[in-house]
Amino acid sequence: MADELIAKSGETEHSIVKAEEGEATIWSRRDFFSLAGWGGILAALAAGGLAFGRFMFPRVLFEPLPTFKAGLPEEYPVGTVSERWKQEQRVWLVHEPDGFYAILAVCTHLGCTPNWLNAENKFKCPCHGSGFRRTGINFEGPAPRPLERVKIALADDGQLVIDKSVLFRYENGDWTKPEAFLKLKA
Ligand code: FES
Repeated sequence: MADELIAKSGETEHSIVKAEEGEATIWSRRDFFSLAGWGGILAALAAGGLAFGRFMFPRVLFEPLPTFKAGLPEEYPVGTVSERWKQEQRVWLVHEPDGFYAILAVCTHLGCTPNWLNAENKFKCPCHGSGFRRTGINFEGPAPRPLERVKIALADDGQLVIDKSVLFRYENGDWTKPEAFLKLKA
């Protein structure tokens, strides 16, 4: 009886070991193919998701509108060059006794943003030293031509409206055009 039990337990042990060996072999194969399969599916899904995301959210550069309201004329003292919109819009507003003009704060040499030097009554580019008079005319440094002016008008609500999509070049005779200078009634 005891011998029979020992023999049976030996058999059982043997079959468990066999089964474990067998399972280990089968699982490793399954693991490999299953992982490879799932990996492929996940990679395809990720690629599809990425393509869908790019389609839904294209890489578009959102630039501010070229037109903006700059407040009421009284907010700008006569005889001054205002830097109020330089940072946000790259525009200076110049208030002369007879009206306004707006200058684009883009150097005509290589596009840097010049600074207004009030004490010297001129715009000076920090990049290569070009200088421009308060009118925008270049007079020193490598800039080949004057600064450009942009359209300025009065809105119905009495505010100044600047439109940077309309440019006026001195060398083309544009500065004499009505929209390049806003005449104010005395
Ligand atoms: Fe202004 Fe060169 S970019 S002087």
